[in-house]
Parts: sequence; structure tokens; C-alpha cells
Amino acid sequence: MALHSTAYRWGAVARLFHWLTALGVLALIAVGLWMTDLPNGMRKINIYALHKSVGITILGLTVLRLLWRLTDDRPLSPPGQPAWQQRAAQAAHVLLYGLLIAMPLSGWLYNSASGFPLRWFKLANLPHLVEADPALKELAHGAHEFGAWLLIALVVLHAAAALKHHFVDRDDTLNAMLGRRAKDSK
Ligand code: HEM
Repeated sequence: MALHSTAYRWGAVARLFHWLTALGVLALIAVGLWMTDLPNGMRKINIYALHKSVGITILGLTVLRLLWRLTDDRPLSPPGQPAWQQRAAQAAHVLLYGLLIAMPLSGWLYNSASGFPLRWFKLANLPHLVEADPALKELAHGAHEFGAWLLIALVVLHAAAALKHHFVDRDDTLNAMLGRRAKDSK
């Protein structure tokens, strides 16, 4: 099993980062949209705490993923892909990485400005980013909510593009992320 990516396939490390992030983000979006309407009580507190811990994990994973990316190769674009599509894909990926950093940070800022403590899976206390501040709390909350809808739109676009590559263009874009050997690889 190749750890590093090649011109034809994503390596095991890049694939692990990708699918763990996909799983975590889908769960965070679903739980995030659901938990806000729960009645107050211990159950709501525990679910919020889990959302926060998984969100902080995504922040850590994204930082590690970006560092790994600096040392890793990446598969070539499918042959014949128009330049505008390559630029659109690059822009979507930059925005996705930006949101994978901005979403956890806005959540952490919201938590800090609300004056709540933050524990990562009951294992470690994380510091407050700022003192309690009602105006900043509102701002961070708005950013977290707006970012969530932007992230949902981008995830839908990203998945739709992957399915189009696979079923319409019949190229190896999705195979490369599933770890399958590309048709024209050596
Ligand atoms: C990639 C990471 C994250 C994603 C995708 C995410 C996603 C979401 C979503 C979709 C919502 C519902 C938004 C709404 O309609 O109000 C939400 C709410 C919330 N998130 Fe996150 N979140 C992430 C990380 C975090 C982190 C790290 C924290 C705190 C440390 C956090 C704290 C909260 C809180 C407190 C709410 C509830 C807001 C309210 O009560 O209205 N989130 N999140």
C-alpha cells in the first residue's frame, strides 16, 4: 500500500485524511443543524460537547493534511479537461480548505466569546481564544451559521463533480480517491 500519492492515484495517507474529513464534516453538519432545536438539558449539553470535540478534531486533521500535502505528489488532471474546469476545481478546493479551518475556528471563537469552557473529548482543556464578549459572540455565531451553508453548498458541488467525472466523463478522478488503479497507470 503506497503511503504517498502518484500522478495516477492518491496515496493511503491522503485518502485517509479525505474520507475521515468527509465523514466528520457530514456528521457535524447533520448534528449541528439538529442539535440547536433540542430541549435544554444534559442531553443537549453532551451533544454540543461532542459536536465541539469532533469539530476541533477536524481542525487538527486539516492542519496535518495541509502539512502532508506540502510533501506529497498529486494525481494529474484527467486528459483533455478544459482549463476553466481545472481552475474551478482548484478554487473549490481552496474554499473547502478555508472552510475546514474557518468553521472550527468560528465555533471555538463563539464558544470562547460566550464564556463557555472547551474540553476536547473530556481529555484536554482548550484555552479561551478571547474573553467573554456579547458582540463578538453574535459575530462568531453568524459566521459559523453562514459558513455552514456555504460548506453545504460546496460539499454538494464537490460530490456532484466527482460523480460527473465517474459516470458521465468516465475518467479516473473518483477512482484515484478510492485507491483503485487508474486505467492508464503503469
Ligand atoms: C468543521 C467543523 C464544524 C462544522 C462543519 C460545524 C457545523 C455546524 C452546523 C451546520 C451548525 C448549525 C448551524 C445553525 O444552523 O445554527 C453548527 C452549530 C454550532 N456549532 Fe459547529 N461546526 C464545526 C465546528 C465547531 C466547533 C469546533 C465548535 C466549538 C468549539 C462548534 C460549535 C457550535 C455551536 C455552539 C453551535 C450551535 C449554535 C447555536 O446554538 O445556535 N462547531 N455547527
